[in-house]
Amino acid sequence: MEKGLFITLEGVDGSGKSTQANALEKSLNKNGNIAVLTREPGGSVGAELIRKLLVEGDPDRWSPETEMLLFTAARRDHFEKTIRPALEKGKIVISDRFADSTRVYQGATRGDLRAVVDQLHQLMIGYEPDLTLIIDVDPQESLSRGLARDSGEDRFEDFGLGFQKKLRQGFLKLGHDFNKRCKIIDGTRTVKEISSEILTLVYTKLND
Ligand code: ADP
Ligand code: TYD
Repeated sequence: MEKGLFITLEGVDGSGKSTQANALEKSLNKNGNIAVLTREPGGSVGAELIRKLLVEGDPDRWSPETEMLLFTAARRDHFEKTIRPALEKGKIVISDRFADSTRVYQGATRGDLRAVVDQLHQLMIGYEPDLTLIIDVDPQESLSRGLARDSGEDRFEDFGLGFQKKLRQGFLKLGHDFNKRCKIIDGTRTVKEISSEILTLVYTKLND
């Protein structure tokens, strides 16, 4: 694959990923880069259809195993239709969540499925980001931010504070395990402070 740069943002619900992904796309494009902003679950027509099944409705609607399959199906479509074509054209792709979310949500928190999640990822996607920004926030803070949006997409927030605390630990462990591509960002600062650190990290990567 001719290489663009693949950047993902990860973290618990309401940690500020979308805010930072938007700011990053704007800064990069303003400075003459070609950056594409996308998200998971979603990011392509088919994956957005699957998204609705996943983020709405009763928390017990799907088992962790079924969720893993649905998220991976959505990711395959997203990867084929949006991510891979953009990277092949040399663009910077910014994705608000990617496979690390499945590793942490389905692999280590909703279920104990990490080995299967990794196998399925290897079989069906087989691609990792160049840079992953994990935005770290105390779940008490992020949960109140997230639910305040009242988006109707709160199925995962509805699992509660204990669940979000486990997720936070899962993301911190993942950042440690993949410390080459992952950076842990203190998400309790102002939006501007965080976006300035992120921009510095991205330019460092671009100039690697
Ligand atoms: P996520 O995409 O991780 O769910 P969002 O970017 O949608 O998070 O942010 C969730 C809420 O928190 C939004 O209302 C947003 O305006 C607010 N927010 C984002 N970043 C910060 C920050 N650094 N400090 C305070 N509030 C923030
Ligand atoms: P998102 O819209 O990013 O939620 P938020 O803005 O609250 O962070 O993602 C929707 C939900 O899907 C979110 O709670 C995390 C969950 N999710 C998984 O459980 N596994 C996955 O692989 C992905 C991509 C998301």
